[in-house]
Amino acid sequence: MLMTVLLATGVMLMFTYTPSPSQAYNDILNLQTNVWFGQLARNLHHWSGNAMIVVAFLHMLRVFFTGGFRQPRQFNWILGIVLLLLTVGANFTGYLLPWDQLAYWAITVGTGLIEYMPFVGKWVQTVILGGPEVSAATLLNFYGLHIALIPIGLLAIMSFHFWRVRKDGGVVIPRAPDEEVEKKVKRVVTIPYLVTRELVVALVLMAALLVFSMVVNAPLEELANPDKSPNPAKAPWYFMGIQELLLHFHPLIAALVIPAAALAALVALPYLDADLDSVGVWFRSHKGRRMGLAATGIGLVVTPLLVVADEYILDFAGWLPSLPTLISNGIVPLAIVLLLLFGFYDGMKKRFAATNCETIQATFILLLVSFITLTIIGIWFRGPGMALMWPWDVAAAVVGH
Ligand code: HEM
Ligand code: HEM
Repeated sequence: MLMTVLLATGVMLMFTYTPSPSQAYNDILNLQTNVWFGQLARNLHHWSGNAMIVVAFLHMLRVFFTGGFRQPRQFNWILGIVLLLLTVGANFTGYLLPWDQLAYWAITVGTGLIEYMPFVGKWVQTVILGGPEVSAATLLNFYGLHIALIPIGLLAIMSFHFWRVRKDGGVVIPRAPDEEVEKKVKRVVTIPYLVTRELVVALVLMAALLVFSMVVNAPLEELANPDKSPNPAKAPWYFMGIQELLLHFHPLIAALVIPAAALAALVALPYLDADLDSVGVWFRSHKGRRMGLAATGIGLVVTPLLVVADEYILDFAGWLPSLPTLISNGIVPLAIVLLLLFGFYDGMKKRFAATNCETIQATFILLLVSFITLTIIGIWFRGPGMALMWPWDVAAAVVGH
């Protein structure tokens, strides 16, 4: 549904938009003031683009928590991961297009993360930017990716994804314990039962999106100025978890090792957790639910504590001055986090006398809650100089600036 809205409004935007630094910003201003319903079209595109990341992420959680990634759906799970990456790519390339201060600096910070890849980082960054920094070439690159390559990729893989859902026997349902129960399971046909519900959901979503876009405008700051960096300069919101990690770990660990490990773990999940008995059961079991709740509580308390401890107390680089920072600021804190994680895994498994599958789920929930907490801290609790402060102080400082 969101993809359809994005396609329709995206094509409308193309009628008034020119991807050049001297034109883009004025085109957006013109769209917002002189074009009938131009602001509405932009708002719909902007909010659908952000909502699609949230919705794809929520769908991934639904699949995870019902065990929908397991055999025979492993391959569709991986297609899903590609879809999520493409959706983020679509949002990221779209982010630059208005060519205002927000766009310019968020993309500068966001693409700055690529540089930390060993050996090839600088080269990859230059290819993506079309030069050493965000420029006219970047705008044109991003435009091409945004309006053609990524949408085509998304549509192609989505079709494959939907076909696989049917090929794999439809959406997961709990296994019936025996034939007696199997006979009592009420089966309904897709049309009209499922399709009617989907239509209702689509209409409610569309109405909500429309009302939201009538009330809240997509942000637009001043024209991009490469000489005047805002303070703080933040990446797009969905990368703020990584930007927050950069404040605590050596860049190689924060921008590369941790995200790559997270991605590898997602791809490997169907092979790590292959228990077929709990497929289709939300949170695996009664025990799985209790462990999930415990993991959420621990994540919500421990993550901010670690952030605050690292901000004010921990100083590995100062304590271990003779070591290279990759070790003192990278390997050492990473080892501590991994130890805590193993402690958590082992402790939970013993405390709840749980299966591997239930414990993997609890660990996933802990990491998920930590990631969301880090993202929230990065978005709302970091002010000028990326100093830790309360959200109202951040707001006051940014307005003052
Ligand atoms: C998953 C798909 C897509 C996502 C997530 C997405 C996201 C975005 C975002 C976040 C922006 C910046 C909006 C703003 O701040 O105003 C944007 C701008 C834009 N998008 Fe997309 N978009 C998608 C698909 C498309 C498609 C298919 C087209 C064209 C056919 C398109 C054309 C445009 C144009 C022309 C702009 C610049 C105008 C503007 O910034 O208001 N987009 N997109
Ligand atoms: C643009 C993004 C995506 C779209 C439009 C999409 C769409 C869908 C739809 C319509 C279904 C069938 C209905 C349902 O199960 O809810 C489905 C199933 C599925 N999706 Fe996605 N999906 C997307 C992203 C993802 C992601 C990010 C993942 C996981 C990483 C994923 C993994 C799966 C799996 C494994 C199934 C089968 C689940 C089952 O049978 O219960 N998808 N997807």
